[in-house]
Amino acid sequence: MTTKHFFIKTFGCQMNKNDSLIIADLLSTSGYRQVNDPEIADIFIVNTCTVRDHAENRALSYISSLKKWHNDQRILIIAGCMAARLSSELTKKIPYVDLIIGPDSYRKLSSYLNTIFQKQTRIIDVVSTEETYCGIHPGISGITAYVSIMRGCSNFCSYCIVPYVRGRARSRPADDIIKEVKNLVNTGVKEITLLGQNVNEYSYQDWNFSQLLNRIARETEIFNLRFLTSHPKDLGLQTIEVVKNNKNICPWFHLPLQSGSNRILKMMNRQYTREYYQNLIQLIRKEIPDATISTDIIVGFPTETEDEYNETIELVKTIKFDDAYMYRYSPRPKTRAARYKNLPESVIKKRLQNLIDIQNRIIREKSEKMLGKKYEVLIEGLARNGSRGKTKGNKYVIVNESMMPGDICEVEIIKIVGHTPIGRIKKQNE
Ligand code: SAH
Ligand code: SF4
Ligand code: F3S
Repeated sequence: MTTKHFFIKTFGCQMNKNDSLIIADLLSTSGYRQVNDPEIADIFIVNTCTVRDHAENRALSYISSLKKWHNDQRILIIAGCMAARLSSELTKKIPYVDLIIGPDSYRKLSSYLNTIFQKQTRIIDVVSTEETYCGIHPGISGITAYVSIMRGCSNFCSYCIVPYVRGRARSRPADDIIKEVKNLVNTGVKEITLLGQNVNEYSYQDWNFSQLLNRIARETEIFNLRFLTSHPKDLGLQTIEVVKNNKNICPWFHLPLQSGSNRILKMMNRQYTREYYQNLIQLIRKEIPDATISTDIIVGFPTETEDEYNETIELVKTIKFDDAYMYRYSPRPKTRAARYKNLPESVIKKRLQNLIDIQNRIIREKSEKMLGKKYEVLIEGLARNGSRGKTKGNKYVIVNESMMPGDICEVEIIKIVGHTPIGRIKKQNE
């Protein structure tokens, strides 16, 4: 059999990007070869997202454009979260799809491909399992990498589709994670981000998240260690102290707030209040004064009043997040919130734009405060006028010299362009 080639297109979050590496690793081990040009591919894999309606529509319209690519000798695979949500319904929208596969079934990919190539049949497998992809360690040639430490989610925030498409939370064995981190460090990776929908819920035998984090920081030679996402209800002092006590853990917390109104938080099933959230931020800032904090916010949740929306705005202005991902509420079928009546689109749109404007001003102010200060920057790649890298606080900086990816340099911020700080490299004797 001649070697078959595959091409992967990925939508969605870091988790999905990491899953695409797992897919590539599994297929390469089975004798398939990854290519960068779909025209020379026999297999086209679209790894999809369904977290909001918009994400799903983007994936669907992309897949619709593949009708021209597809023929009897070629296989189209729809993988990921949208595949899990729509399952056989997808065959109505995309009649030429050959394989619909959910995020927990990738170990079976190559045997499914054999069957499809031989029998020209269609296969659908979106069953959610206990899968953690233990033992799969996709290699990577870059400077930064993701390592997933748990999969799925059991929190059932009332708006969220993730628990339905990725199954319940389960954790990967700690030893397997350590082994993967060590392998990556050996191949030159300088920064690793540990991934999970709620990393604070990590639990494997005797290991909880703060213990795992501490162990990775101490037992491996990783230069920068980050983690995503922290759920406010589960991030505790223990983890904050581990971050504080290990120089190689970046003092950056991604802590989705979602809403500043207690009534809406309750309807969202977030299990914390605005007061609790504010105390948590105070605790982080007391323990680690230079910590950076980013967040996710949803505006226009069903029944959100103007006053409740303003409570979010007020909290955003008080806390001053270093970064924020802001979304309009998007109803997801099957979730509890999908039963509620939606707010008018024009109201949601206006609220979102106002929030984005306010947050942009905060980011601009924060960037300006960086002027004249020095930061340690890990260079990730080239930029138009020099190199691009990130501070420990997860802020992108452009430096005015050509550096190698992986270089670590001390940078003094000399100006701000747009929201981006521009710096110059401090020489050793300065
Ligand atoms: N596990 C993480 C992230 C999940 S998805 C957490 O708990 O925060 C990433 C973000 O997408 C969420 O934080 C939320 O802000 C947003 N999101 C999820 N479902 C959404 C929906 N139905 N409509 C709009 N935004 C949504
Ligand atoms: Fe979704 Fe909530 Fe789980 Fe995050 S914690 S993935 S928002 S259910
Ligand atoms: Fe990620 Fe989208 Fe799935 S955000 S978990 S790829 S629904």
